[in-house]
Amino acid sequence: MAIPTPHIGCTEQGIIAETVLLPGDPLRAKYIADNFLEDVVQFNTVRNMFGYTGTYKGKKISVMGSGMGIPSIGIYSYELIHFYGVKNLIRIGSCGSLQEDVKIRDVIIGMGACTNSNYASQYNLLGTYAPIASYQLLSKAVKVAAEKEIDVKVGNILSSDIFYDADADSWKKWAKMGVMGVEMEAAALYMNAAYAGVNALCILTVSDSLVTHEVTTAEERQNTFTKMMEIALELA
Ligand code: HPA
Repeated sequence: MAIPTPHIGCTEQGIIAETVLLPGDPLRAKYIADNFLEDVVQFNTVRNMFGYTGTYKGKKISVMGSGMGIPSIGIYSYELIHFYGVKNLIRIGSCGSLQEDVKIRDVIIGMGACTNSNYASQYNLLGTYAPIASYQLLSKAVKVAAEKEIDVKVGNILSSDIFYDADADSWKKWAKMGVMGVEMEAAALYMNAAYAGVNALCILTVSDSLVTHEVTTAEERQNTFTKMMEIALELA
């Protein structure tokens, strides 16, 4: 298909790696490129949604912002998959805890992603689709975490369309179903990947708790962010 796309300005095939890390914040993508990657080239500046390719331990890997919410990650992941041939898409983000035993600063991995979004309606399925992570990426991430002695919690997450919810208690119903945390992107990423037959995973650090109302400081977020990155970068 024709490149550049409406939202990614990369004009050559082969620049974007087969594995792309997707933080929500494009400045996070820049930070990762600056601090973790070597031989970095920038491949996107459209809408300041910065994208970079570099190497990590000799392996080619890209990192690009996804923006916030299902429509935004839906667009970027679709274009990466269908126009640039990306095969492994790994969201690295933050979430709010919905459980007493999911503490701020914990690293969690979304085995499944529930959603209140209508994104799945495009597939005209006669039922409720269950968006899930790639088992290949998930099992590898769990193995890497164990090797590095990083604790991870693996389970269900909620990709919500709503940050400021008029029903302040709506999260409690998801919590009752064992959902660990809430974020705003994974379900669309998992559906786009499934529909295209490629791999996706979502790794999150817990930035705040809907249960205890605790929040992390910027410094704490940076430390847990590094743990999450150590796992994600090994998936290239
Ligand atoms: N809700 C949605 N997304 C989030 C949250 C939250 O509480 N915390 C971090 N990302």
